[in-house]
Formats: sequence, structure tokens, C-alpha cells
Amino acid sequence: MTTTPDLTAMEQEKLRAHVAEVLTRARSRSTALTDAVDDHDLTRQHSRLMSPLVWDLAHIGNQEELWLVRDVGGRDPVRQDIDELYDAFKHARVDRPALPLLGPTEARGYVTEVRDKVLDVLDHAVLEGRPLVEGAFAFGMIAQHEQQHDETMLATHQLRAGAPVLDAPPPPHGRRVPAGEVLVPAGPFTMGTSIEPWALDNERPAHQVHVDAFVIDTTPVTCGDYLAFVEARGYHDPQWWSPTGWAHRQQAGITAPRFWEREDGRWVRTRFGVREPLPLDEPVVHVSFHEAEAYAAWAGKRLPTEAEWEKAARFDPATGRSRRYPWGDEDPTAEHANLGQRHLRPAPVGAYPAGASPLGVEQLIGDVWEWTSSDFGGYPGFAVFPYPEYSQVFFGPKFKVLRGGSFGTDPVACRGTFRNWDYPIRRQIFSGFRCARDPRPEELG
Ligand SMILES: [Fe+2]
Repeated sequence: MTTTPDLTAMEQEKLRAHVAEVLTRARSRSTALTDAVDDHDLTRQHSRLMSPLVWDLAHIGNQEELWLVRDVGGRDPVRQDIDELYDAFKHARVDRPALPLLGPTEARGYVTEVRDKVLDVLDHAVLEGRPLVEGAFAFGMIAQHEQQHDETMLATHQLRAGAPVLDAPPPPHGRRVPAGEVLVPAGPFTMGTSIEPWALDNERPAHQVHVDAFVIDTTPVTCGDYLAFVEARGYHDPQWWSPTGWAHRQQAGITAPRFWEREDGRWVRTRFGVREPLPLDEPVVHVSFHEAEAYAAWAGKRLPTEAEWEKAARFDPATGRSRRYPWGDEDPTAEHANLGQRHLRPAPVGAYPAGASPLGVEQLIGDVWEWTSSDFGGYPGFAVFPYPEYSQVFFGPKFKVLRGGSFGTDPVACRGTFRNWDYPIRRQIFSGFRCARDPRPEELG
């Protein structure tokens, strides 16, 4: 971990206020997602891929208790007896409904009790001197953890059958983006970070990576683009698919993105319980890595590597440095990106010109997580912090990296260096993609 210089009393106060604000924002989201449904919907399993919502809620409280009440605060446990029930490594999601879980009322009482103690710990904690508390890291980690579960709970809502219960205003309008692709010149750039105070272990340390010249799409692949692949019978032609992807497509009987259906001769999709015409100008969402890879092959392109994605997002050719976000170093606002469940759908392409990278690549942050062609692994010099189960146990070829966050991701859990990972068959997540390709000789001048 990078240590920050000693903080003045005023800086400590500012940091405490920031921590309280992000924790409170996360809790309002968790509350909104769990208050939107009745007790039956909170306790049942909506898909074998997901936990009951009431498990997520108490698990959020349990992680907060372990790290902030017991470790940082050095306080007595609140409910040590339930640690095992809410340990994600002890029970697979499919088994969680059968556990003697806290009921909705108990779970709500538990998370409130833990939060009250945490706000007291925050008032008294010295936010330096120990890597776990330096720059309020543990608080930032817990706020990100809660927001990550809020995105998972949003995905559970998408899988839930029944009348719609969530609503949000529509995203901004799209616009015609000047160029479909841009060339990113060859050369080194700084990948990862050693200075972002709440960056997680897998984003560290900053290191130089040489990337050959490549061409990348300025926007994510839209439903309209993807529909052309479906209508060209792309799901029935093995030449576009990897052998593993094709085998899975056949075995699972997949013929379109998840939540798409053909109805009376036209395509519709279901979004949080609402059936609607396919929005042709929105980034496609709920596709697996295999589907993304097949589309890219059909389009004569490929998926970007993780390093290509990050270079397109962060590299500023004018200064040679890597930015925190495509638009600069400022935290995301509503002008930059579709984040934080503000709109419960991806925004049409072209909706965020203010979020463009220096090279003119748009909507890298927010809207949809973007599959890359890279396996999840540690950067050179990776060090586990603060526990191996956060990311190290997932390193290896089983998981593919996704970048950029979705409309369901909070800004606290999203930055130019943030890395997500999942199995290449998964598509209940808010996953889309953009394509890249090698430049043609004439493009290199
Ligand atoms: Fe968790």
C-alpha cells in the first residue's frame, strides 16, 4: 500500500465526512432495493445464480461488522454466531436459501445496529498509521463491497418474475458519434495505480505496459448492431464461435442475448419486469463473453485486451500520463457517465460526450460492463491486501476481465483502473462489450 503523508485535523474531518457520505449513499441503495419487494420476495431465490436478497443484506452487515466494528474499531462482536452463515466462501449461492438465515426484520435490525457502531468508530478512528486505515481504506473497501452487492441485488431484481417494482427517469438522449473507431498509437502507458487511496489490491501497483497500435470502437456495440448478428444467423454458425463458446451455446440452447424474445415477428426485451421494444441505439447488455467474442469475429474484429481497454480509457497522448477516468481526474458526475442506478438502463450511444477519453472513445465508464479478452490475474508486483479471498483466489484462466462499470455500478466502485471478473458464460450481469482490431498497414501511415 502507498502511504499518504500525515493528515491535518481538517483533512481527517473532510475524509470522515466523505466516508459517512459514501456509506450513507450505499445504505440508501440497499434499503431501496430491499424495501421494494415483500418478505416472500426477499427470502426466496429468484435464480440459482443468485442469493436471496435477504442474504445479501445481512452479508453486507456482516462484512461491515468484521472489518469496521471488530478490526478497525476493536469493539466486541455484534453477532459472531452468524459469521459462518454469511461467509460467501462457505456456502454456494444455490445453497443459501436453505440456511437458517436472519429474516427480513432481523436482517434490517442487524445492519442498522452495525452501521450505528461503525459511525461511532468512524468518529474516533485515526485514519492513518496502519495500512488498513490509511486514507480510510477499510471504510472505502466496505462502501465498495456494499455497492457491489447493490449491483448484484439489482441483477437479482432483473431475474425476478412478477410486476415491476423499480423505476427511474430515462437516461439522456444519444447523438451521432463522429467516428466509429479510433486508432490508439503504439507505445507504453501506465496501467493500474499506486496512488488511488481506495483502489483494491488487484488494481495495484502502477506499472508500464507496452501496447502495440490498435483500433477500438468509439462506443459499445448496440442492440441494433447485435441484432444484425442474430438475424444473420450468427448463433447457428460455428465459424464465429470458439469451440468452448460453441459447445456452451449448443448445450444451453442460447439463440439471443438474455431477456430478448421474439414476439409477433419483432424483438422485445424485458427490463425489470417491463417488456419493451428492443432499443436499437442502446448498448447491448446481458451477453456472455462467448457471445461477445462470436459477434466480434462475425464483425471482422476482436475483443480488446484488458491493457488495450485501459489505454483507450486513461492514456492522454498530450501529456503521456494516465488519467483516473477517461475525461480527466475529477470524480464522475451525471454529465460524464451513466452510473449509480440513476437510470435503470444503459444510455443510448452518444449520450455522454463530456465523458469521452482524449482519443475520443466514449461511454467507457458506466452503461455496461465491457468484456475484454484477458484472463484475470495479478499485475507484476501484486501483493494481497487485505485478504486473499478478495481477488487472488480468482486469478487464472477460469475468469475473464470486465471493465468500466455499468448503470448499476456506483461511482465509488468504478474508476479507470477498476477490474471486475466473471465466468465467460455469465450473462445475468450487466455485461456488454465493444470491439477492437489490429490496424491495417495504411492506417499506421
Ligand atoms: Fe460479498
